[in-house]
Amino acid sequence: MNLKAGILGATGAVGQTFIRLLDEHPCGWLAGTPMPEGVAGLTVQECAPDAFDGCDFVFSGLDSTVAGQIERAFAAAGVPVISNAKNYRMQGDVPLLVPEINPGHAALIERQSWGDAGGDGAAGTAGDGGFVVTNPNCSTVGLVCALAPLQEAFGVEAVQVVTMQALSGAGYPGVPSLDAVGNALPYIGGEEGKMASEPHKILGTLADGGDVQHMNFPVSAQCNRVAVIDGHLEAVSVRLTSEPSPAEVKEALRSFTPATDGMDLPSAPEQFMRVFEEERFPQPRRHAGLGGGMTTSVGRVRSCPVMGIKMALLSHNTVRGAAGGAILNAELLAKEGRLEPRASRRDVGVS
Ligand SMILES: NC(=O)c1ccc[n+]([C@@H]2O[C@H](COP(=O)([O-])OP(=O)(O)OC[C@H]3O[C@@H](n4cnc5c(N)ncnc54)[C@H](OP(=O)(O)O)[C@@H]3O)[C@@H](O)[C@H]2O)c1
Repeated sequence: MNLKAGILGATGAVGQTFIRLLDEHPCGWLAGTPMPEGVAGLTVQECAPDAFDGCDFVFSGLDSTVAGQIERAFAAAGVPVISNAKNYRMQGDVPLLVPEINPGHAALIERQSWGDAGGDGAAGTAGDGGFVVTNPNCSTVGLVCALAPLQEAFGVEAVQVVTMQALSGAGYPGVPSLDAVGNALPYIGGEEGKMASEPHKILGTLADGGDVQHMNFPVSAQCNRVAVIDGHLEAVSVRLTSEPSPAEVKEALRSFTPATDGMDLPSAPEQFMRVFEEERFPQPRRHAGLGGGMTTSVGRVRSCPVMGIKMALLSHNTVRGAAGGAILNAELLAKEGRLEPRASRRDVGVS
């Protein structure tokens, strides 16, 4: 089945990663690869549902200051929205999806009702096919990809994480050059709160017809911006219920079976988790692109005198942490029949 995707926020760092991964692009090109020929002539359109009436659904790479209102308008107009923005991640009826971990949470869509977005009685109503699905914050997703196998094998009791986050995580133009070059910034607004709460929802259990029952282990996060282009590195310490050895932890990480196994989703990486034995790995420049940017890397798994186990973890922020994760979400939804073609098509709408 071919579905037609629109992209909201197509000119931004995440929007352009969508285009690169979907092999199309219409604006000032930021990536280190040439702009694909087939999209150079496309026009950036107004960011309104009417302009996207040929699309079956839209990806959103919108800035969070505008994503709430715009995504709501699309959902209310009957357009499925696969979003990267933070605005609806923690809303009770909105799935916060990592397909390898919690694909069943997609069922929350059935409870959504976006109603009249404009307050004028003109917008869509419940049952018109519009919904919002989100993926986690770019520093949360790598962490949760490691926590899921550990929760399954041993039980997670507490987490401490110190991040070293790439500049591309701040979007474009992002951090001023005089702050970024030869420097590190010990504060990223809102990031620590997202890391402390999102894993609880992602790893939570969806009761029949109800809300996700969140986990409640404490997560203490300290988030830093460093002079790296792509790839968030994280120093993670965990306290696990059954006190496994580092060798047992590595085995659990390596042997975890992603829920997407056998689903044949094109963006699901062949290797969900790469566990390094080399003490100096993983590194952002060398390993952020593993599995096309969708593989999470872990290394230096060792004993921690405070928490029990500590490790280094790496995840590509604009791929696994944004556009690639969202595309994988769309593939899961399409596989489950939750994304369907709409009438009156256009090839691609961009805004
Ligand atoms: N960068 C990452 O690693 C990452 C990871 C995960 C999630 N996210 C989230 O993804 C979203 C996009 O991030 P980003 O890094 O790509 O940011 P960005 O580079 O600043 O891009 C923001 C996009 O939003 C558009 N936009 C802003 N105001 C608008 C308005 N009033 N109407 C229509 N479009 C508007 C911008 O269009 P113009 O170009 O016309 O201004 C641009 O296309 C954010 O919500 C962010 O938190 C980012």
